[in-house]
Amino acid sequence: MLLLMKDICKSFVGVPVLKGVDLEVERGEVHALLGENGAGKSTLMNILTGVHRCNEGKVVFDGEDITNCSISKSESVGIAFVHQELNLFNDLRVYENIFFNKELTNKLGTLKKHEMIEKCNEVFKKLGVDIDPTATVDSLCASDKQTLEIAKAIFFEAHLLILDEPTTALSNEEIDHLFQMIEDLKKEGRSFVFISHKMPEIFRIADRYTILRNGEMIESGFISSTTPQQVTAKMVGSSLANSFDYEKRPLGNTVLKIDNLSSKAFEDVFLDVKKGEIVAFTGLQGSGASEVLQCIFGEITPSEGCIYIKGQKTGKNSIHNSMKHGVGFLPSNRKENSVLPDMSIIENMYVSEHSLSSQKFNISPKQEKTRYDTMKKNLGIKANDEKDLVVSLSGGNQQKVFFARWLNTDADILLFDNPTQGIDVGAKAEIYKLILHLAYQGKTIIFNSLEIPEVMRLADRCVVFYSGRIAAILNHDDITEHQVMMYATNAVLNNGEK
Ligand SMILES: Nc1ncnc2c1ncn2[C@@H]1O[C@H](COP(=O)(O)OP(=O)(O)OP(=O)(O)O)[C@@H](O)[C@H]1O
Ligand SMILES: [Mg+2]
Repeated sequence: MLLLMKDICKSFVGVPVLKGVDLEVERGEVHALLGENGAGKSTLMNILTGVHRCNEGKVVFDGEDITNCSISKSESVGIAFVHQELNLFNDLRVYENIFFNKELTNKLGTLKKHEMIEKCNEVFKKLGVDIDPTATVDSLCASDKQTLEIAKAIFFEAHLLILDEPTTALSNEEIDHLFQMIEDLKKEGRSFVFISHKMPEIFRIADRYTILRNGEMIESGFISSTTPQQVTAKMVGSSLANSFDYEKRPLGNTVLKIDNLSSKAFEDVFLDVKKGEIVAFTGLQGSGASEVLQCIFGEITPSEGCIYIKGQKTGKNSIHNSMKHGVGFLPSNRKENSVLPDMSIIENMYVSEHSLSSQKFNISPKQEKTRYDTMKKNLGIKANDEKDLVVSLSGGNQQKVFFARWLNTDADILLFDNPTQGIDVGAKAEIYKLILHLAYQGKTIIFNSLEIPEVMRLADRCVVFYSGRIAAILNHDDITEHQVMMYATNAVLNNGEK
């Protein structure tokens, strides 16, 4: 056995979050670590890698007791942690990231830049990726950033790679590529702990699983002898009853008109969206869907075309201006775009409202608290005290706070980019219900998602992007996995209705 974690207990400020958890990982296996948001998955891995110390328990890796070791010790025995929120330096170059703190130097201490670049190229070749080692990390797309983290692990000869929700920002194609890399590395005898909320991929890639619920270890076994339904039921402690069916709703007048919009990332986008409508954007990485949302929110200035909100041309392209027109935007990539790490949970939840209501005379903390409690209940946010730092929440619970951030404003048009990123199955269903509820109230919603089942459940229409252009606009009844993929991969000629 490669890894044995036995009876791990951990409390944060007196609150127990791991209560006697066991985890065993064999050589050359992919072990899925499963559980709802806040179940304790990341914390368990943080203990393994020396980020946190456990209060009780034992960790043995490759025959060596490494209980409560340091981060550098865990790295030196061959454990690599690819975090849920990627840990890269955006301003540095690719090779500088890989060799951060482990720079190759000659005797005089001069950096061996060319050698480092060369070595990066070797690993990238092995992984079958095309990344320029001298590019700044900033300029990479989400999947390349992900690959970079894995490359870093391979570089330093990791035997166990921990992948914490590695696919949340990847398209299906990129997931295929990642899984191929995992399969190849597995054959070399490397092991993986794989954390994900997506059942299909768990059943595709994992050999065994361990389920945590509320900090307790519930079950461990072989993936081949269970089903997604059984696993889900064990995770939530009951069967999921809150599924619902899509219903057609009456829609109002056009509230958002996108007229011939172009920028570097997309071209010739025309779209009319009605009051109360739910429109899904989808497309492979680089399709432009995400940038169109950013443009509607005033973050990207279009090179051509205009946006009309409730018949009014929005004019000056700025975020403040869009917010004044009643547009709210939940961006993708939580760590870079949403988290205000030095602020509390409640401050993070209200930051958008405050910047809108700066004219108001004062803020009522009591009112805020009441509304916070309602949000917490509705979205099932697992938090102790609203004054705790937002970074003390689990990844999925942070995402719920950012979702709530925009529900607190009076925005009529809500743009959500990858809204259920890292959210567990039960909470996803809650968010779907909430989105439908908002639409019934007359809010207009555009969300960008790579998960087709999610699009099928919610969207009145689905706009499929390919290479910066609208490839098709599908009505609810025509949205199928097959149709969407055909247009998203340009497998059909561009003959979609516009
Ligand atoms: N630094 C911290 N301070 C206080 N509480 C923390 C801290 N880190 C984690 N917690 C708490 O520990 C619990 C487990 O969190 P953890 O991040 O391990 O969950 P998770 O299973 O990874 O969830 P997710 O699927 O949302 O990522 C949560 O209730 C979280 O609020
Ligand atoms: Mg986590």
